[in-house]
Amino acid sequence: MDKIIEQDIKEITDSIKKIAQKLEGKTLLVTGGTGFIGSYILDAVSFLNENHFKKPCNLICLDNLIVGDEHRISRLLEKEYFKFIKHDISKPFEYADSIDFIIHAASIASPTFYRLHPIETIDANVLGTRNLLELGAEKKIKSFLYFSSSETYGDPIEGNIPTPETYKGNVSFTGPRACYDESKRLGETLCIAFFNQRNVPVKIARPFNVYGPGMRLDDKRVIPDFMNNVLHNEPIIMYSDGKDTRSFCYATDAIIGFFKILLSDFNGEPFNVGNDAEEISMIKLAETIKEISGNKIEIISRESKDKNYLKDNPHRRLPDLAKIKKLLNYEPKTDLKTGLKKSIDWYKLAYNL
Ligand SMILES: NC(=O)c1ccc[n+]([C@@H]2O[C@H](COP(=O)([O-])OP(=O)(O)OC[C@H]3O[C@@H](n4cnc5c(N)ncnc54)[C@H](O)[C@@H]3O)[C@@H](O)[C@H]2O)c1
Repeated sequence: MDKIIEQDIKEITDSIKKIAQKLEGKTLLVTGGTGFIGSYILDAVSFLNENHFKKPCNLICLDNLIVGDEHRISRLLEKEYFKFIKHDISKPFEYADSIDFIIHAASIASPTFYRLHPIETIDANVLGTRNLLELGAEKKIKSFLYFSSSETYGDPIEGNIPTPETYKGNVSFTGPRACYDESKRLGETLCIAFFNQRNVPVKIARPFNVYGPGMRLDDKRVIPDFMNNVLHNEPIIMYSDGKDTRSFCYATDAIIGFFKILLSDFNGEPFNVGNDAEEISMIKLAETIKEISGNKIEIISRESKDKNYLKDNPHRRLPDLAKIKKLLNYEPKTDLKTGLKKSIDWYKLAYNL
């Protein structure tokens, strides 16, 4: 593990080590474990195994590597408590031993890639969720965390920003983003059905634009995309007028939130996870990334060759975090500039730039 991620893992585990005691000596299955969020989760539990637990938590990582990066878990492959199984979660997964916790983080999360693989995206979010919920019911698991998304809210209409968990969404069901948004919504419906009918202790996280070290530089989500430009001394290309806004949440804050949800007793509940401190326009984001990089590059606004690039793109994203703050004592701490600085330092280190 490199220094920057190691520092993050220490911050995460310091914050959750008490509640994470529930994982000691148990088995946790993580899908999408070679992806950005999944690998942070695995690293955090690995750190707890080596520094806090008497008996390690067994980790099973399932990933079909469709977008994940195997290098991210290479350090874990030699650990006795860790098992990597290359598996497509849209197919049923059989496992002889016990499983106590499931985190379902596998999906194709980057809009550029889910528009290229709409069927695989739907399969991971619907068939994958169904298969894992069946497994959870069979194994009588203690807790199941489903990764939904703030994209389930679509493009919120006025009066619904900041967006609370009770907002029902303004989502296209045939547009280019529907494969992701609608399948995440059906994934949530499946979770609630399995909670009501089969008593699976499921919780739902709706992350709002999480970023940080470990997200691939070629992921095409906006932060790595802009950083890819500045780190190659190229102009930042914005495929919009730059007016749309997002609220970005640094990895450590989000991962702490995800563990708090998983290890809670709020079964059948959705929780927003994000950072509500700053809602920033894409032009301001580009300027901030330029400033922290110190590179005197241009910022250019240009139409994308992909005619669907902006279709149904939400204009604003800002989470209402009242529920998770009140019930789970969640408080994001990393401001945007600090998080961006850490991310750019990590990209320089990891990609030799
Ligand atoms: N990062 C964010 O800001 C954000 C926001 C909202 C929701 N989410 C959700 O959180 C989860 C993790 O996101 P991330 O940013 O780490 O994404 P990511 O793309 O970095 O990782 C996803 C992982 O899932 C794997 N995967 C995809 N389809 C699979 C399949 N059928 N079988 C097995 N593995 C499969 C990929 O190979 C990849 O390793 C996803 O469910 C995503 O939709 C993330």
